[in-house]
Amino acid sequence: MSGPAHPPRRRLLKMGARLGLGLGAVGLLAWARPAAQGQPHDAHFSRLARALQQAGLGHAPTLVIDRDRLHANLTRIRQDMQASGLALRLVNKSLPCLPLLDEAARAQGTQRQMVFNTPYLGLLAQQQPDHTALLGKPLPVQAAAAFLETAAGMGWPAADRVQWLVDTPARLAQYRALARARAEPMQVNIEIDVGLHRGGVTHIATLQEMLALMAQEPLLRLGGLMGYDAHTEKVPDALGQRERARLAARETYQACVEAVLASPLARDRASFTFNTGGSTTYRLHTADGPANEVALGSALVKPSDFDTPLLADLQPAAWIATPVLKVARFQTPTGVEALGMVLQAWDANQAVAHHIHGGNWLAQPASPAGLQASGLIGASSNQQVLLGSGRQRLQPDDLVFWRPTQSEAVLQQFGDIAVVEGDRVVAMWPVFPARA
Ligand SMILES: Cc1ncc(COP(=O)(O)O)c(C=O)c1O
Repeated sequence: MSGPAHPPRRRLLKMGARLGLGLGAVGLLAWARPAAQGQPHDAHFSRLARALQQAGLGHAPTLVIDRDRLHANLTRIRQDMQASGLALRLVNKSLPCLPLLDEAARAQGTQRQMVFNTPYLGLLAQQQPDHTALLGKPLPVQAAAAFLETAAGMGWPAADRVQWLVDTPARLAQYRALARARAEPMQVNIEIDVGLHRGGVTHIATLQEMLALMAQEPLLRLGGLMGYDAHTEKVPDALGQRERARLAARETYQACVEAVLASPLARDRASFTFNTGGSTTYRLHTADGPANEVALGSALVKPSDFDTPLLADLQPAAWIATPVLKVARFQTPTGVEALGMVLQAWDANQAVAHHIHGGNWLAQPASPAGLQASGLIGASSNQQVLLGSGRQRLQPDDLVFWRPTQSEAVLQQFGDIAVVEGDRVVAMWPVFPARA
């Protein structure tokens, strides 16, 4: 026996609710579905592309520097430095190209560089012999020993030009042994930990121990202190945490400067190198603080890791340009056709595949807008696929631009750098050989 039938009103209500739910789900899907995006190159990238093609550089991945933007950044930074009253030290590894370093040094009126390995220190000694170098990391003493031997052979006055970085009493003792063995003076700079915890002295007592050791060794001269503070801008800006990190870094640095000035090594404060900062933090410092110079490199070409509020008015000035080899409807590989069809039905931005020369760099596709790597195919250093809606209107041999996430290492991956000014390639700048 069947149970009692629902009264018609209740049945109708149930059906209505089901229909409503179904329509809601369809509406939600339609709302969440990605819209077709993208457009051809804007005027800036069209100009860069034309300049490269006209110079015969459109056939392989090429690193491009937009010199007009580089100079706009250099002007801003010069104004910042004038306002802060601090000296500027160029970060060599972030600008690993002699003409780029020279152009920046001329524009800023600085001959100070921060160098991170002895091969590049050797290049500085050969190519920019009047420049001075502060090491940006503490090197094994054997590296310093080998370099000093080479410098002596060249007749380059390393004792006047180089500040070696030391981070512990043990390393300081090694450098003292080297100075004694060579019977030559050496300048050392003490790395202090202002909160990054990457390295450097963490206690005033340790700093005092090192200062005392140096005071007893006439061959060692204290160049100053180096306290890198890149961490502060990574601290979340909530509940005042970032400001607290900035303040703690400043206070730690101040205490270290006071320890130096209270030690037997005290002398005119301006004759010390009290280095801090980097691209992301240099604008936080002024001559009223403990440091008297800031280091900076990447900000000059502003890779995407430097898209921070403090640097908002600086412009990206370095790109990777690479030709498109093939443009076709995106076909997922054999075996995943069904998945491909679902993905393409869902996302109009997976309609067209652009196969490019190279890829998988420390960089992001930048222009034309709306291109993205395929999650299904993945990255390729040889021939990456970039998917798009087709609105980019790319043809084979057209150029695609990527924006580096960092300048260090990336600038050195493409041979000579093409320098574009106005609508022409005006120079090709050789880069340093790659070195960590
Ligand atoms: C000690 C030190 N100072 C400054 C910098 C800043 O370099 P950039 O301005 O290129 O970020 C770095 C970068 O690694 C560094 O290690």
